[in-house]
Amino acid sequence: MARYGYFAFDAYGTLFDVHSAASKYAAEIGPNWERLSQVWRAKHLEYTWIWAGTGRHTTFWQLAGDSLDFAIASVGGVPTGVRDKLMAAYRTLDAYPEVAGVLGQLKARGAKLAILTNGDPDMIADAVRSARLDGVFDHLITVHEAGIFKPHRQVYDLVAGHFGVALRDVSFQSSNRWDVTAGKVAGMRAVWVNRSGAPAEYPDTPPDLVVRDLAPLAVEG
Ligand code: LAC
Repeated sequence: MARYGYFAFDAYGTLFDVHSAASKYAAEIGPNWERLSQVWRAKHLEYTWIWAGTGRHTTFWQLAGDSLDFAIASVGGVPTGVRDKLMAAYRTLDAYPEVAGVLGQLKARGAKLAILTNGDPDMIADAVRSARLDGVFDHLITVHEAGIFKPHRQVYDLVAGHFGVALRDVSFQSSNRWDVTAGKVAGMRAVWVNRSGAPAEYPDTPPDLVVRDLAPLAVEG
């Protein structure tokens, strides 16, 4: 397999574990904590699609709060104070265990690395800092620059401008299967990081590579 020199990574769910926030407060949320976390994530994404599809834009942080309110209501509420704790935890999510090592190996062989995310610039700065990934990325690219959320094509086109290469020379990694489709349609190599072992979908745009976590990238590139 050809080794790539340019890698763009989705952030939430790909580098950072979005479920680590609710998991941290599982005892306070109660037995529905996993459902709350799943609904929170699903609604957060749905809201971004609706904002993009209706040609409007807001902050990812605003939609994190709106979707959390829906998720809390859907499980019948949480104790006072837990909403604020969950929002704070969302700013300092855990990175998946292999992330720092794999990114370090890619960087050591001269690859250029970027994040391409819906996250607001300040959210991403906090996430990178708390995961101790400072200095790892050459570019932190957010939809803020395009003024519209994923999967709008303009978002993916930002990568070429930042790296200064054609999109076909970039490998794009995402755990979100719909995001993989959008990266592929834009012309990047599309790698699906299927962390949850989800079934295949979007047969019109198969991923160029499917991995369970980022580790194979360090070997195969
Ligand atoms: C992101 C979301 C899609 O980081 O996970 O862009």
